[in-house]
Amino acid sequence: MGIRKFLMEVLDDPQITMIVESKFMRYFWGDMMLVIVIILILIAILMKQFIQTGLVKPMREMNAAMQHIAAGDMDYKITNCYSGEVGEVFHNYEDMRRKLKESMEKTIDNEKKNRELVSNISHDLKTPITSIKGYVEGIMDGVADTPEKMDRYIKTIYNKANDMDRLINELTVYSHIDANRIPYNFHQINVAEYFNDCVEEVGLDLESKNIKLDFTNLVPSQTQVIADPEQMRRVINNIIGNSVKYLDKEEGIIEIRILDEIDSIRIEIEDNGKGINQKDLPNIFERFYRTDASRNSKQGGSGIGLSIVKKIIEDHGGYIWATSKEGEGTCIHFVLRKYEVENDE
Ligand SMILES: Nc1ncnc2c1ncn2[C@@H]1O[C@H](COP(=O)(O)OP(=O)(O)OP(=O)(O)O)[C@@H](O)[C@H]1O
Ligand SMILES: [Mg+2]
Repeated sequence: MGIRKFLMEVLDDPQITMIVESKFMRYFWGDMMLVIVIILILIAILMKQFIQTGLVKPMREMNAAMQHIAAGDMDYKITNCYSGEVGEVFHNYEDMRRKLKESMEKTIDNEKKNRELVSNISHDLKTPITSIKGYVEGIMDGVADTPEKMDRYIKTIYNKANDMDRLINELTVYSHIDANRIPYNFHQINVAEYFNDCVEEVGLDLESKNIKLDFTNLVPSQTQVIADPEQMRRVINNIIGNSVKYLDKEEGIIEIRILDEIDSIRIEIEDNGKGINQKDLPNIFERFYRTDASRNSKQGGSGIGLSIVKKIIEDHGGYIWATSKEGEGTCIHFVLRKYEVENDE
């Protein structure tokens, strides 16, 4: 009881109350300041955390992605997902990356096709040049010793020069158009007439090389196909060019047969050359593919002749394959759809 009384008396004393009040205020403000400082520090930490995860991290990711794009790597995807404005920026980046990738792939593809085209045409230019050289040498050496022979030689040189002219024109046309396709000129052609003309021209060439040419046409005389006569000539020249190149017999024989297959015609060009190994057979239409045997031989070649042939036949809606027996010869078969005309018979 005594202590309680003593405290009441002390607190009632205004002097003591003032001292207590001033001490209390001092301690109170001191604590308040500490609390405010702690709160401010906490806010700063939280803000830093927020800026770090919400802005700095995505900016770093975006920067890394942009560096990949600048270095030409269009496959770099940003995997993290963000919401809000940052998410929108990432979404737009992904859109931009996809479009850039598509356009880059298109450019690369066009460049590749352009290169292929130039090498296709240069490849095919070699054939008429070699022929022209051969015929001119024939004339210079006096092989064309009769007026008829001379006439035939000159006619062939003229035709070969026309082939070259056509190929060079094709190259010029190509270099001016962006879409890289062989500029086909499809016509309705009469099979018998067309192949008779071809055989006549090729026969002359083969005759000078001592190679026998047999021609059999088993399709009705009115049969027609839709084809580009110039490109079809490239096909025949390439196939026969191979038959000549890979001939290993004293007496070379090439047979051209045209067979009737109701809705289509099948052309077979067979030689009695060195033939192709069964394991190589499925690959010979691939670009740059040459069998070991031909790579090791003296005959030059780049392995693109048959890839051009395949492309042209497929662009005509047809298909092509080869059969062969090593040591005995090779036969190239291709099928073209007939153009249905009213049958009067
Ligand atoms: N008639 C054939 N007889 C034997 N092998 C052939 C015959 N035709 C093609 N080949 C083989 O198929 C390969 C591919 O033929 P392709 O015409 O595409 O190329 P290439 O003749 O080697 O070269 P290029 O035609 O570009 O000058 C040849 O290297 C050859 O090995
Ligand atoms: Mg070839």
